[in-house]
Amino acid sequence: RIYSRIAGTGSALPARVVSNDELAQRVETSDEWIATRTGIRQRHVAGEGETTVSLGRDAALRAMEAAGVEPGEIDLIVFGTTTPNLIFPSSACLMQAELGIAGCPAFDVNAACCGFVYAISVADKFIRSGDAKTALVVGSETLTRMVDWSDRSTCVLFGDGAGAVVLKADSATGILSTHLHADGAKKELLWNPVGVSEGFKPGEDNAGVRVLMTGNEVFKHAVRALDSLVDETLEANGLDRHDIDWLIPHQANLRIIEATAKRLDMPMERVIVTVDKHGNTSSGSVPLALDEAVRSGKVQRGQLVLLEAFGGGFTWGSVLLRY
Ligand code: ACO
Repeated sequence: RIYSRIAGTGSALPARVVSNDELAQRVETSDEWIATRTGIRQRHVAGEGETTVSLGRDAALRAMEAAGVEPGEIDLIVFGTTTPNLIFPSSACLMQAELGIAGCPAFDVNAACCGFVYAISVADKFIRSGDAKTALVVGSETLTRMVDWSDRSTCVLFGDGAGAVVLKADSATGILSTHLHADGAKKELLWNPVGVSEGFKPGEDNAGVRVLMTGNEVFKHAVRALDSLVDETLEANGLDRHDIDWLIPHQANLRIIEATAKRLDMPMERVIVTVDKHGNTSSGSVPLALDEAVRSGKVQRGQLVLLEAFGGGFTWGSVLLRY
């Protein structure tokens, strides 16, 4: 049997850091409000020349270096993002060209904040079917280019950044199972109301592009969905909740992360938290946290790791893997 296994991880963040205090000079908010409600203390914000593709490329190069893989060995690119550089070509194709490779399939997956979890699930299936051997999976976003900087209920939440993994075919266990879900019926609770075919408003700032969110409703849906996702993932693998070594959750809100840790009866020392430093980087958040967990020496080979995310759509999903 063929498995896909994480051979290397990488990440990239924009140079500029924006603190809560700095935001409090632009909108009526405070470090205390933001930190108590979300756990966020600062976020990175992309500047000139920093894009979803450039951050994704830098993360990908670091992941390939860690895996000891050359760009020419990559035979699949799956790129999770909801803030692509262009509508087309895909960010995957743009990044492929920047890596100096051509020929292998390359495409984007848009599942909002669940983009990386969806992307790695897709790549896992390509590898297990034998259609790919060495896949590059990226989660990268520049959500700060989309937020309405005058709306304090959303602009304090998001940051920019990217993470990537190289997945390799292996006879030893790697990814054990993936679980993906979506429910499009509640789109107005968390959405950007502007696209190409609908919603374009030429007279408005940014043509009307912005993040709209009913935060407290999203919060409740996220906690409920993640609770049942944890149960589903454990049950599918015949595991007890105490068997998981590390939880690497989507970094939207510390209180949501703590609720999931409680469901797993897991002490916070076993949970990777980066939301304080990065804010919500959407598809970037899980691979950024994973890279930090690996490079800091926390996550060790052979350990059981649970990745999970929840985002606009709604979309939600998990990946259970033996690192
Ligand atoms: N500073 C000060 N006050 C604020 C701010 C701010 N930045 N933002 C909102 N408020 C006020 C509101 O106006 C409201 O005031 P009111 O009571 O006078 O009307 C009050 O604070 C409380 O607002 P709530 O929305 O009820 O606050 P809540 O405790 O729910 O926290 C938050 C808001 C942080 C957004 C939380 O609901 C949350 O994290 N939700 C989930 C977000 C999430 O997980 N998103 C999913 C992924 S994102 C993606 O997919 C793109």
